[in-house]
Amino acid sequence: MTRTLIKGGTVVTASDTFAADVYIDNGKIQALHAPGLKYVDDHDVIDATGQYVIPGGIDCHTHMSLPFGGTTASDDFHTGTVAAAHGGTTTIVDFAIQSKGSSMRAGLDAWFAKAEGQVAIDYGFHMIMTEANPQALDEMAAMIREGVTSFKMFMAYPGVFLVDDQQIFRAMLRAGELGALITMHAEIGLPIDVLVQRALSEGHTAPVYHALTRPEVAEATGTERAIALAEMAKVPVYMVHLSAQRALERVMEARDRGLPVYAETCPQYLFNTEDDLRGDPPGVGDGEWKGAGYVCTPPLRPAHHHDHLWRGLKNYDLQVVATDHCPFCMKDQKELGRGNFSKIPNGMPGVETRMHLLYEGVTQGKISMNRFVEITSTAPAKLFGMYPKKGNICVGADADVVVWDPKRVKVLGTSTLHMNVDYSPYEGRRVPGSPSHVLSRGELVVKDDVWVAKRKQGRGQFVRRATFGL
Ligand code: URP
Ligand code: ZN
Ligand code: ZN
Repeated sequence: MTRTLIKGGTVVTASDTFAADVYIDNGKIQALHAPGLKYVDDHDVIDATGQYVIPGGIDCHTHMSLPFGGTTASDDFHTGTVAAAHGGTTTIVDFAIQSKGSSMRAGLDAWFAKAEGQVAIDYGFHMIMTEANPQALDEMAAMIREGVTSFKMFMAYPGVFLVDDQQIFRAMLRAGELGALITMHAEIGLPIDVLVQRALSEGHTAPVYHALTRPEVAEATGTERAIALAEMAKVPVYMVHLSAQRALERVMEARDRGLPVYAETCPQYLFNTEDDLRGDPPGVGDGEWKGAGYVCTPPLRPAHHHDHLWRGLKNYDLQVVATDHCPFCMKDQKELGRGNFSKIPNGMPGVETRMHLLYEGVTQGKISMNRFVEITSTAPAKLFGMYPKKGNICVGADADVVVWDPKRVKVLGTSTLHMNVDYSPYEGRRVPGSPSHVLSRGELVVKDDVWVAKRKQGRGQFVRRATFGL
């Protein structure tokens, strides 16, 4: 295993910014010391002068190879994790699925099989619970022994993932006994389905109706209900992919009352708007159909939500920015919904662009550099039982390290990105900063946007996560 000295950079953690050299051996950070100290050992040197040295990004919400809406997310565990690394993310937490009528064990084994021999960086799993029957509640303990310590439940997608309040409540009570964390997709799916059917019967088939049939109040109400259930069960709860002002206000009220309520948002809710779903003006480009590339759930919101979400990140009401990376190609996949917006597979690409977009927020003064590190790495590591192995630059941590060059400029687009998808929601956008070096457990994997590690497929390791400890 190569020893590496990252020299001359500015280390940034969630709490501190300081000049230090970082010495790496055996996959771990072995020493942080004043610049210039000489080592006698042989080691590689990375010159980080003028650059930031930050913990590798942790994307705690991805869906590689997710079967959805009659097709499968176009990034698999290989392409998706290689892309993640190019963007400065060194760990993902993806979602295994307990199929209805089947066990969590079978679901976990199926997702291990998808990931094994494919992953390029480290990975963990949450478990999507589609039933909270006595057998499933029992199985939660077995999942935790496997290091799968968080469970996602859905108030949305009737007939697919939706579970009722009683099941959510039972799972929360069990999670409380086990130290597990319940994460919630908090849009109320049953009334949304009525709005969808009504829109279609009125002949509204364009992508923008995806947003118009999933109003903000549906997410705010789901958020409030999930918080109420967690309060009754006396357990923490984590809201995934929060998209809008009113849902955020429900989270803020709960946190002000001292409840352990946590929430993530995603770059698409900070950078894209409902207008993207309208596509090009009629007669231009692909017309309204282009909007299909922006169909994700919850939907994109009008632009005024952005300021609320940025403020939420700055003020600690939102803890994490993950991606909900779930790409589908326009060709053959998004096309399934031509003429019926409800058949457009839900999801957007994002695992490779998250760090770039969030860093733009730093350069615009929306968040500090320390907060950038916290919301992209340290907070997800803590909330999901990976800290301090992941999420920090400290002695003893895995050497998942990104040397981030603030002077570089990246133009986002399908020709510069590595995700396996035929469009980019950010085509042509110039963003400041880029990773010059990405290390995963001490191994240099990406240098100057080129994969340089000998191994790619299968070099990532499964991360057994601890129970909820905040
Ligand atoms: O559009 C989305 N979010 N697709 C993935 C499924 C989910 O709800 O996270
Ligand atoms: Zn969801
Ligand atoms: Zn998701």
